[in-house]
Amino acid sequence: MSTSPGKDFGPIADDYVFFETHATEAEQDARAYTQQLAAAVPAHGPIRLLDFGCGSGSFTARLLEQLRWPPERLQLTLIEPVESVRRLALPRLTAFTTAAITDASSLPADAVGCFDVVFSNHVLYYVPDLKGQLARLIGALDRDGVFLTAIASRANALMAIWFEAFALIDREPPYHAAEDVEQALRELGVAFGKEAVGYELNFADTEENRLRILRFLLAEYLGQMPLRPLLDHFDRYQRDGRINIRTASEHFMVRPA
Ligand SMILES: C[S@@+](CC[C@H](N)C(=O)[O-])C[C@H]1O[C@@H](n2cnc3c(N)ncnc32)[C@H](O)[C@@H]1O
Repeated sequence: MSTSPGKDFGPIADDYVFFETHATEAEQDARAYTQQLAAAVPAHGPIRLLDFGCGSGSFTARLLEQLRWPPERLQLTLIEPVESVRRLALPRLTAFTTAAITDASSLPADAVGCFDVVFSNHVLYYVPDLKGQLARLIGALDRDGVFLTAIASRANALMAIWFEAFALIDREPPYHAAEDVEQALRELGVAFGKEAVGYELNFADTEENRLRILRFLLAEYLGQMPLRPLLDHFDRYQRDGRINIRTASEHFMVRPA
């Protein structure tokens, strides 16, 4: 894919909430991370957690609710470039920790070897330098730390919309996919585990709802694309007045130690 991705989630915040509300993706991702972390995090002591690309913190809150870590164990760092959504994350997450939450728009250069858990949920599509960003996120782990990330592969049904949409304007999607993460990890010489996590997207079949998913997926590019074929793409998922899409994302786990 192109080497210059990037997507401003500010203008499409409501469309992203529509996706979040109508997909089981967050529920399934949180369940998978909870299982992966149960085996990776020690039973006692502080847990220094970095959430890279936390958005409004609603996914983080869902995950922390499931993890049930005592608030006195958790030290939370939030990285999110869109300030308006990062501001929503702070009050949402204060109850999960007795420590002050650190937040920033990008990963500080001195964040090296200082986290027990780094996770990044559906963010790596959009980072400008994927291999460099992965190296920094893995480099931010303490010796026994664990890095977890979820990202869809090219086989994902929503990725298919990206490819169809950008083909309509003779372009490759300017975003990364799970295949790119896998290649970057191999180039970095990092051992990793990988697991497919299934989910469902289900919403009332109206043109406005189809459009909401297209706006969430294509953001500022949608205005350059012919709408009709993209709206019609959803026909294949139509059933009893609803759109029902069953697909999956890939979860990667890296434990440098
Ligand atoms: C699909 S949302 C996921 C949000 C959250 N992790 C979740 O699971 O709900 C992608 C998030 O990545 C953020 N993002 C985009 N580019 C980023 C970058 N270069 N560094 C960190 N976060 C970024 C966006 O602003 C957005 O909040």
